[in-house]
Amino acid sequence: MAHKLTLFAVATVLLVLGADANGCFFTGAVFEHTRYYSKNDSARHIVEKNLVSYRRAAEIASSKGADIVVFPDYGIFPPSERAQAKKYMETIPDPKKSRVNPCEEREAYSQKIILRTLSCMAKENSIVVVASMGDLQKCEGDPDCPEDGDFHFSASVAFDRDGTLLMKYHKEHLFYEFGMDLARAQQNSTFETDFGTFATYQGFDIDFGRMSEVARWQTVDAVLYSVMFIDQAPQMMSVQFWESWALANNKTLLAANTQIPGYLAVGSGIFHGEEGALSYTFNPEGISKLIVARVPKCDFESVAPYASITAITDDEMWEWKGDGHDVPEVCSRTLLNDSTEIVREYRCMEENMTDYTFVKLTAPKGHVDACNNGVCCFVEYETDGLTEDYYLGVFNGTYNHFGRYNWFEEDCVMARCDPLGDRPCATFPMKSETVFRHLHLKANFTSKVVFPSVTESGMRLVPRSEWHHHSHGNLLSDIRFDRESGRKLLVAGLKGRCYDKDPPYKR
Ligand SMILES: *[C@@H]1O[C@H](CO)[C@@H](O)[C@H](O)[C@H]1NC(C)=O
Ligand SMILES: *[C@@H]1O[C@H](CO)[C@@H](O)[C@H](O)[C@H]1NC(C)=O
Ligand SMILES: *[C@@H]1O[C@H](CO)[C@@H](O)[C@H](O)[C@H]1NC(C)=O
Ligand SMILES: *[C@@H]1O[C@H](CO)[C@@H](O)[C@H](O)[C@H]1NC(C)=O
Ligand SMILES: *[C@@H]1O[C@H](CO)[C@@H](O)[C@H](O)[C@H]1NC(C)=O
Ligand SMILES: *[C@@H]1O[C@H](CO)[C@@H](O)[C@H](O)[C@H]1NC(C)=O
Ligand SMILES: *[C@@H]1O[C@H](CO)[C@@H](O)[C@H](O)[C@H]1NC(C)=O
Repeated sequence: MAHKLTLFAVATVLLVLGADANGCFFTGAVFEHTRYYSKNDSARHIVEKNLVSYRRAAEIASSKGADIVVFPDYGIFPPSERAQAKKYMETIPDPKKSRVNPCEEREAYSQKIILRTLSCMAKENSIVVVASMGDLQKCEGDPDCPEDGDFHFSASVAFDRDGTLLMKYHKEHLFYEFGMDLARAQQNSTFETDFGTFATYQGFDIDFGRMSEVARWQTVDAVLYSVMFIDQAPQMMSVQFWESWALANNKTLLAANTQIPGYLAVGSGIFHGEEGALSYTFNPEGISKLIVARVPKCDFESVAPYASITAITDDEMWEWKGDGHDVPEVCSRTLLNDSTEIVREYRCMEENMTDYTFVKLTAPKGHVDACNNGVCCFVEYETDGLTEDYYLGVFNGTYNHFGRYNWFEEDCVMARCDPLGDRPCATFPMKSETVFRHLHLKANFTSKVVFPSVTESGMRLVPRSEWHHHSHGNLLSDIRFDRESGRKLLVAGLKGRCYDKDPPYKR
């Protein structure tokens, strides 16, 4: 009995402290926020209302033992054109030049409510806070200074447990975002806390090489990622792509997304290297959620995740169960009109697959292969009977994303998809009925970074215990999935990114 009591006491202490004394884990939290916005409200009111939700999330995260909470990109105000964006900006001091603690310097920060509130949230809850906001820097005299005399940076900020600003980072890859200016130079976005060393990134940064490069620094324990993501089937759906990012870089990723289903944004989670998702949510219904999990640091799989998902509204909170329940069969913006109820009607896009080579899977079991510009992709599989359309798709080259950005990819994907017009595989349902017991997908890529993913009906991530992946430098990447009782697979994919073949990024 005494023994039991002692164990209980130790467990309680660990829970309260969050990070354990040996430094073998920390507790992370990400908040998927349904941003408040109304055309009729003042900028100040919009910011304040969203910060009230952030405060609640920070309190709940802290009560669950979290050491750190990460908030999404554009969670406090919406993306806007330049004149409107200026109303949301605050000038963020450089924490490398002097100690900055907005919560302690209330007078000086009385008009900078974002900085002050984030700093006080950190201090009052003794939690590290990472969020995304706008940084206005006057620049008259600078030859690159915009006409209105200010730089508008999209910034990530991190506050220590006592409210001190640890770091600010300016987004290095803007996605359109014409109200904002690009970072002036490449930065080192790492910072240290009492439970580890972290790097922050935002939004579009994840599609380029720098974020992977920094993730691979040995000293970095985890990458903190704030985003308002655009879901693109079949291989770039939020939680699917982030799990594959954590696998490809063998690093922990804490990804916080804005939840606005009508704007294609849903899904957040904590992904731990080879172990994949420790906890995640993907459920488009317009409710904000806090995801908390313990993240091991010493060796993988040494710590149970004690994961939880909490739904949070203005006046209620509850343990979130049945995640995935509200995923519709069809989300394609190609098939449906734009959403009229942006917090409820979920929409997604398709990746640009114009130049892919597709081959249909016709037999209930067997193998199929296809090649495109030197890359060959092969799938061997076994189903309980094939009544839906599945295709193997392969691509190698530079192509155009979102009608504006070009980069290099090698892709090999098997996906549930439907035809449209003269394209055999054009849209991707979120639900499937075909039960796969076995699948082996392989391709000869030249890419050094290869993102592997396996999802099943309802956009759920297939447990990591059921599939393996390998990417060798020697032109072979593969995925093996096996499960006796089978799973209704949606997608199994390998996406290779050869960053050094990319044309220079232009905003
Ligand atoms: C916003 O203001 C317009 C014009 O005053 C009004 O017609 C509209 O109903 C208001 N919308 C909301 C959501 O309050
Ligand atoms: C980045 O910054 C961290 C801490 O501020 C420092 O330890 C590290 O050496 C820096 N890395 C590079 C490559 O400059
Ligand atoms: C992944 O990282 C962990 C922890 O840093 C390390 O122990 C493991 O060997 C790495 N795995 C691979 C495949 O590199
Ligand atoms: C899209 O909108 C048009 C015009 O409002 C309507 O006729 C059509 O039925 C809608 N399509 C779908 C799939 O809802
Ligand atoms: C990839 O495999 C195909 C088929 O085996 C082969 O024709 C092609 O040359 C290979 N590509 C490279 C770069 O080795
Ligand atoms: C894919 O295309 C690139 C550029 O055209 C080429 O260098 C590479 O070898 C190709 N990959 C394979 C596996 O053939
Ligand atoms: C898809 O990519 C192709 C090739 O880069 C490009 O010509 C086309 O405009 C792109 N389509 C869209 C819708 O972005």
